[in-house]
Amino acid sequence: MEVVVVSTPEEAARVAADAYSVLLRDTPSAVLGFATGSTPLPLYRELIRRHREEGLSFARARAFLLDEYVGLPAGHPERYREFIRGELEQHVDFAADAIVGPGDLDVAPLDAGPAYEQRIRAAGGIDLQILGIGSDGHLAFNMPMSSLASRTRLKTLTPRTRQDNARFFDGDIDQVPTHCLTQGLATILDSRHAIMLGFGRGKAQAVREAVEGPLSSRWPASVLQLHPHATVVVDDDAASQLA
Ligand code: F6R
Repeated sequence: MEVVVVSTPEEAARVAADAYSVLLRDTPSAVLGFATGSTPLPLYRELIRRHREEGLSFARARAFLLDEYVGLPAGHPERYREFIRGELEQHVDFAADAIVGPGDLDVAPLDAGPAYEQRIRAAGGIDLQILGIGSDGHLAFNMPMSSLASRTRLKTLTPRTRQDNARFFDGDIDQVPTHCLTQGLATILDSRHAIMLGFGRGKAQAVREAVEGPLSSRWPASVLQLHPHATVVVDDDAASQLA
């Protein structure tokens, strides 16, 4: 694991965007992994800028999302697939249907995990996966106590997660889906290069546990200690509890 401490999220975005640029220059048909949430937004803005100003092209690339709610209708603004469409896809040159989320497969939710794993395998695996980290150390929807060997699967959202996410649903927990599909921690470990971003003091403990703590399902992001090529890019605040 390599840890890169930078001053601002924008600087972190440039570090991560460099990895995307190099990969796409060398392998235009690369398979990318995208996360949602606020953390990757500076990266997506930087990728859009490079597309517009420097010719960075996604035309031959494919991409997979980390996770998705179950039960939201197609086009619902809180679907993670819609988030990626609005924050990245519609501003660059991905081919139609090049981006797939775990909720996009035409199968029952219980079958979606294995089917998604098969789709990722058939694409040749994920070359570069971007990750955020939750303040409790979660990765994707792998909350504390998730199996370190987990694969993409259907999960029941905890009351705490639904309450946390109610702010995106008019503050109404009843509108928050009860289930999600998420790549597992072992799925994330299969990516050839994983870049985890973390910004702000609220992430400092989780970053410390992920980087320096014991490998433990209590802090799911600590699984990255097992990743053959993991890069953690954090700002000074998120790095403030590192030794
Ligand atoms: C994103 C995801 C989540 C977020 C995490 C951090 O697809 O699955 O694990 O990365 O909740 O969220 P933000 O970036 O909003 O702090």
